[in-house]
Amino acid sequence: MEELEKLKKELKDLNAEYAKIKDVPAEKRGEFGRELNAKKMAILDKISKVEEVLMDTEVEAIDITAPCGVNEKMPDVYSVFDGSLHPLTSELNRVSEIYRAMGFDVVESRQLDDEYHMFDSLNFAKEHPARDGYDTFRTEEGFIPPAHTSTMQNRVLKMYRNKLLQGEDIAVVVPGRVYRNEDVDATHEHTFYQCEGVYVSKDCTMGNMLGILREFFETYYGQNLNIRTQPGYFPFTEPSLEFLIEKPKSLGGKKGDFLEMLGCGMIHPNVLKMAGIDPEVYHGFAWGGGIDRLVMLRYGLMDVRNFESGNLNFLKEF
Ligand code: DAH
Repeated sequence: MEELEKLKKELKDLNAEYAKIKDVPAEKRGEFGRELNAKKMAILDKISKVEEVLMDTEVEAIDITAPCGVNEKMPDVYSVFDGSLHPLTSELNRVSEIYRAMGFDVVESRQLDDEYHMFDSLNFAKEHPARDGYDTFRTEEGFIPPAHTSTMQNRVLKMYRNKLLQGEDIAVVVPGRVYRNEDVDATHEHTFYQCEGVYVSKDCTMGNMLGILREFFETYYGQNLNIRTQPGYFPFTEPSLEFLIEKPKSLGGKKGDFLEMLGCGMIHPNVLKMAGIDPEVYHGFAWGGGIDRLVMLRYGLMDVRNFESGNLNFLKEF
């Protein structure tokens, strides 16, 4: 650092020398200037070399597999139980297990998707303003990091169509990571998690859907819950609902404190048609909601940003 300061001072002094050019006799000016320039180039060269070394030494190597914090001394031995799953990973596993126990298959979502699965296959009309509501990121090639797990609906419907035709119902959930170009604050993250559910059979009803959702939330929170629905709008369901639960007393809720947990509804006939399923014969319902909020309520967490922060103090709580 000291050496850098010294070189910068030399450079400053040298720059002051340039002012003297006008006092040098005309015939010597050229040589004088050339000498100054050569000195200046030499100093600049030295500065960039010193800066390079500094850059290399200032960057601390991080071993992302290390079983302790980067600034902590490595222990000589560590227990195989050191380290833990990220809370969202373990909670997503819990969520999947609850649905699996109810007979649902669990399939993976993706990290990069396309316009067709994000919008077209979900009955968003071209140029419809609802597309803007999703604040999607796009890659230069036009791919979309999914802004909701509903991007998987069309794939799930197509993948399970044959089973449906052979008389089995489609019952699938899709947990996954989603991305939105949002201003980040305590309740909004650009990267978060959702879980999608898709059910199709010949005779399923909205009542079945509400029963499944109630069962899920009551199992997840380990207690009976009051639920409520209110009208919503999604191009891929008709009718569409928002599903709310009353925040339990044990989690700091008061009577009448309802929280919106997810969007849901009967799958729009066009969505079934686009997956090659006859909406005259089959009916379905679907739902999708945030996992982060679900987990925050369970543990009384106030700031969603902790999940993506890599903050060890936060992670050690779990
Ligand atoms: N994908 C919607 C969102 O992120 C939520 C949603 C609403 C999913 C209705 C569904 C559904 O499957 O039927 O805002």
